[in-house]
Amino acid sequence: MGISSNGLCLVLLVGLVFSSLMVATYAGNFYQDFDLTWGGKRPKIFKGGQLLSLSLDKVSGSGFQSKKEYLFGRIDMQLKLVPGNSAGTVTAYYLSSQGPTHDEIDFEFLGNLSGDPYVLHTNVFTQGKGNREQQFYLWFNPSRNFHTYSVIWKPQHIIFLVDNIPIRVFNNAESVGVPFPKSQPMRIYSSLWNADDWATRGGLVKTDWSKAPFTAYYRNFNVIESKISHSFAEWHTNALDAPSRRRLRWVQKYFMIYNYCTDLKRFPQGPPVECRH
Ligand SMILES: *[C@@H]1O[C@H](CO)[C@@H](O)[C@H](O)[C@H]1NC(C)=O
Repeated sequence: MGISSNGLCLVLLVGLVFSSLMVATYAGNFYQDFDLTWGGKRPKIFKGGQLLSLSLDKVSGSGFQSKKEYLFGRIDMQLKLVPGNSAGTVTAYYLSSQGPTHDEIDFEFLGNLSGDPYVLHTNVFTQGKGNREQQFYLWFNPSRNFHTYSVIWKPQHIIFLVDNIPIRVFNNAESVGVPFPKSQPMRIYSSLWNADDWATRGGLVKTDWSKAPFTAYYRNFNVIESKISHSFAEWHTNALDAPSRRRLRWVQKYFMIYNYCTDLKRFPQGPPVECRH
């Protein structure tokens, strides 16, 4: 008994060490994978490419974008948002293709006064058309620690995740005439900018420039590019397994604060087709 349970412990320990090594070797390098695109000296890469920061002051915000384009896959990034009074600031983190009929998958973090919750705003654009907003509060303070924000993008669906918990699923509804992002590769973008004309309480709370510069941090970028699957099983199984579906319901029940699908004022004719699908 004693020996075999020790053996088991050893196996578990070795397993743990190996899995953390694998995670570590997966992490991308900001120098290799991204370009700092605007904001002069405000965006910075440090720690040998392991950490990136964006900052915003009264003169300008800043931004970066991936060197590569991606078509399907799982994309993870850890973000630590502007702490304290971040009202009026917006940190956008998104995937987008180019041109007037572009596709886009958006996370936007709307800042708030100290102690008041950030809003996580999400949207999906297909063929240049968005208007598919869902907004959430988070179950933690996103400026205290790094948290992981992920997109799983497959031909069948797009899943938004926070710390591996699905918060939103956008299913492929091409069969009922809704375009789905599946042929235009996307780059990863992020920017930190001032949007105090609308971001916090609909623009009522302005940016407090005496607290500038505002800074957000990024680390542990990771992409798993996926092969396109045409297998029948992949298309006809649920996007999420049962525990993930439970977590999604938990988020939607307790943390969702806006859903375009249930906005009857906006869609008096009934919700958009993909909501009914
Ligand atoms: C900011 O805090 C207020 C008060 O709690 C809340 O109503 C609002 O949704 C929060 N977020 C934003 C972005 O305004």
